[in-house]
Amino acid sequence: MKELKKVTVPAVRAMKGAQRVGMITAYDYPSARVADAAGSDIILVGDSLGMVILGYPDTLSVTVDDMVHHTRAAARGTQRALLVGDMPYLSYHISTEESVRNAGRFIRAGAHAVKIEGGKQQRIKTVEAILDAEIPVMGHIGLTPQSVNALGGFKLQGKGGDDARRLVDEALALEQAGCFSIVLEMVPAELAAIITERLSIPTIGIGAGPHCDGQVLVFHDLLGLYDGHTPRFVRQYAHVGDTMRTAIEQYLGDVREGRFPTDAESFHSANEDELRRLYGREHGGGEVVPLSR
Ligand code: KIV
Repeated sequence: MKELKKVTVPAVRAMKGAQRVGMITAYDYPSARVADAAGSDIILVGDSLGMVILGYPDTLSVTVDDMVHHTRAAARGTQRALLVGDMPYLSYHISTEESVRNAGRFIRAGAHAVKIEGGKQQRIKTVEAILDAEIPVMGHIGLTPQSVNALGGFKLQGKGGDDARRLVDEALALEQAGCFSIVLEMVPAELAAIITERLSIPTIGIGAGPHCDGQVLVFHDLLGLYDGHTPRFVRQYAHVGDTMRTAIEQYLGDVREGRFPTDAESFHSANEDELRRLYGREHGGGEVVPLSR
């Protein structure tokens, strides 16, 4: 049997300039299995699960318990990919100690690394503390969905000169702190190209143009399984939601019309006559009517 070459943190670093990094989110055993079998380099148990799995309007209600529960399931479905757990809102904002403890819960649940949003000075200290506990960290700058209220919506970031400069500085600081890769979300393609050029670790874009070292999409967006807003940067490769609905409609039709189950989809008693004698309506002596039609 061919040996499975697992993707590791050093392997992701080494992809810079050598091959593009393919990353996708997954949130449970079946989605991780599919993403892994398809050849994903990185599977992210994203806090986007708040929207696509739990039905919240944003990611802010997601807890560490939610994330750990889903990370455990995704870990059981992942064999080859690097599994990254997304630290949710308020899990790395209160104190360094709490941040490290929360990051450790992801590792104990089967993740190989964690992702945290933001690149301000305080965040850099948090990244360093988590790294100090031997937990690899992926950064995430640009549109950071946990800052949706502070940013005033899910908007393009780094449009103005100062904002662009700040993002370049944050990317460099995250690299310097020791992150092994950085997600760039919804920034102009030209800015993503500059950040990608300046860093020696891979950038992974989402709505950040074609010049990043890799790309990430949300599982449900890529497959057409989410009926909320689909951002312009999403390419839908399938319409799985429609396929699922059609299948369920067919099943319900078959049930209502008596087409399901068939004889071949049923089990049969070895001794129908005896069953009839004991429990049938004609108990006490009538003619035994065979069950099969
Ligand atoms: O939560 C998530 O799915 C993410 C990716 C979109 C990068 O953070």
